[in-house]
Amino acid sequence: MALKNHSGILFKVSIIVALFHIPLFSQDVVQYFKTNCASCHTIGGGRLTGPDLKNVTQRQSREWLVKWILDPEGILNSGDPYALKLQKESRGAIMRRTPGINQDLANALLNLIDEESKKEKSQFAGTRLSDRPLLPGDIEEGRKLFTGQKALINGGPSCIGCHHVNSFNGILGGGRLGPNLTRAYARLQGRKGLSAWLIAPPGLTMSPVFKEHPLDEKEILPLVAFLKNETEKDAPQSSALMINFILFGLGGVVVLLVLFDLIWSRRFKGVRQALLKESKQIFYSKR
Ligand code: HEC
Ligand code: HEC
Repeated sequence: MALKNHSGILFKVSIIVALFHIPLFSQDVVQYFKTNCASCHTIGGGRLTGPDLKNVTQRQSREWLVKWILDPEGILNSGDPYALKLQKESRGAIMRRTPGINQDLANALLNLIDEESKKEKSQFAGTRLSDRPLLPGDIEEGRKLFTGQKALINGGPSCIGCHHVNSFNGILGGGRLGPNLTRAYARLQGRKGLSAWLIAPPGLTMSPVFKEHPLDEKEILPLVAFLKNETEKDAPQSSALMINFILFGLGGVVVLLVLFDLIWSRRFKGVRQALLKESKQIFYSKR
């Protein structure tokens, strides 16, 4: 009797533990989605770098989606037509395997996406950023944050340590570990895509650093404004560069042709005269 009671209590305790565990577990999944997926995907908020995931389980089989989340590049490399179509729609962007992913987590993420798809407004429907317009002062503020003239609030390393932009040519010269960011605003499809990227940078190098020291919301819009300005300034400059290059190229070619002509015509003359002489000798000697 006493034993029965005890097991009853144990049973109840385990149910309570289980009940507490379910939300805890799904909280982990929510957190995982936030840090590893939300920078490229909304659920019902339109495309960022990757497609909007609302109702994705109605577009593809769960089996395919689990495989995709576990090894996106493998599926792309296998020539899977659905994946190639997605990649084309994403202008060539690539999804990589996220750190720590496994089959259970992939399924839990798809459950989460299903749940959130049913909601009128998912917590992942948009970025957490304000939609105030970008102001002229933002560009300067962003430049200071980028170059480290102004320290990042949460102690992250400044961008210039790893990134260059073309307007720094000949002055500051940024680091080369990360890509040149002159066209990042265009590449990440504008304000929405770039902001989402910066809220939780998904790259292998940046994500561990900025998970510990995330950019503050107040810092993101100025950085976006600065990088937008870099992209905009770059377009005419680079076409001017291109023209210079072509003109220099043409000039160089003309100079080279003249040089070659001088050198070769002499050589040819030399050779031809010798040949002529020789053939005349043969001709005359045969006669
Ligand atoms: C760096 C950006 C990026 C990150 C981070 C990312 N994805 Fe993707 N995802 C993409 C892109 C881009 C595509 C479209 C295929 C392509 O171009 O590779 C895609 C496609 C998908 C698809 C198929 C969508 C459809 O319409 O069929 C699913 C599902 C998906 N991602 C889930 C996830 C999950 C879950 C995570 C987090 C574990 C994640 N993605 C992280 C960029 C990303
Ligand atoms: C420790 C070096 C490092 C620092 C510091 C750093 N980045 Fe990066 N960043 C990288 C690397 C490397 C990549 C390429 C993706 C990856 O591996 O993370 C990258 C990628 C990016 C991209 C995506 C570019 C693209 O075209 O896909 C953006 C945008 C970006 N960084 C912005 C920033 C900003 C803004 C800062 C400052 C707040 C910053 N980064 C600080 C190393 C760094």
